[in-house]
Amino acid sequence: MLVLENINTYYGYSHILHDVSLEVKEGEILVLLGRNGVGKSTTLKSIMGIQAPKTGKITFEGSDITGLPPFKVARMGISLIPEERRVIPNLTVLENLKLGMLIRGKEVNREETMENVVFKYFPRLKERLHQLGGSLSGGEQQMLTIARALVANPRLMMIDEPTEGLMPLLVDEIGEIIKKLQADGVTILLVEQNYRLALGLSEKQRAYIMEKGHIKMSGSPQELQERHEEVEHYLGVKL
Ligand SMILES: Nc1ncnc2c1ncn2[C@@H]1O[C@H](COP(=O)(O)OP(=O)(O)OP(=O)(O)O)[C@@H](O)[C@H]1O
Ligand SMILES: [Mg+2]
Repeated sequence: MLVLENINTYYGYSHILHDVSLEVKEGEILVLLGRNGVGKSTTLKSIMGIQAPKTGKITFEGSDITGLPPFKVARMGISLIPEERRVIPNLTVLENLKLGMLIRGKEVNREETMENVVFKYFPRLKERLHQLGGSLSGGEQQMLTIARALVANPRLMMIDEPTEGLMPLLVDEIGEIIKKLQADGVTILLVEQNYRLALGLSEKQRAYIMEKGHIKMSGSPQELQERHEEVEHYLGVKL
């Protein structure tokens, strides 16, 4: 569905991604793992067109999307939920959600989307539609950013560290939401530091491990478990 071939991404003169190649297959949960600063978020930003690669190729469902601006990438059916939660604080929950729907333009039926998407996945937000985004708790803001990406009806959702800073109960809730999304046919590219959660989501999942801007390993959770000493070396944790 999504293929990255030897992409090299820079911030100014700093060469961050080195010949990164990976593939996300339709219907799977692909997890990108690695220590802080190895280039996980930069990989997502390269795909989204926020920090376009200098060389290499990105193909989504057969179309070359390398270097397209973010709004065009979004229109093709990819959404990114960035690490920094970007709820718009002075807009209400409903207004935040409407912004998400704008991306897809006329295709979206608002009432239906609210019922079938927002309230189905996030019943909690229903009670808070007229509250300002900035007044939501951290966990609720995280739900709103996911909901806002979801109302654009993406085929591929890229989620950058969704459980960061959340209490365990909410971490589990986010895990359940990701499973539900996959069951509903959304393909997921997930960056997550909570390895136990990230590698235990589904039968249909694989992971890539990055170090210093390079992809070092890939495989199913079982395959990584069999090579756990290498994985622990790259991640600096016990699996
Ligand atoms: N806007 C920027 N300008 C310059 N350097 C940047 C910028 N954003 C990130 N970097 C650098 O690029 C490298 C990769 O950063 P990136 O955010 O992709 O890492 P990450 O794997 O997502 O880390 P984390 O787990 O901490 O989120 C880091 O060395 C970082 O300092
Ligand atoms: Mg990051």
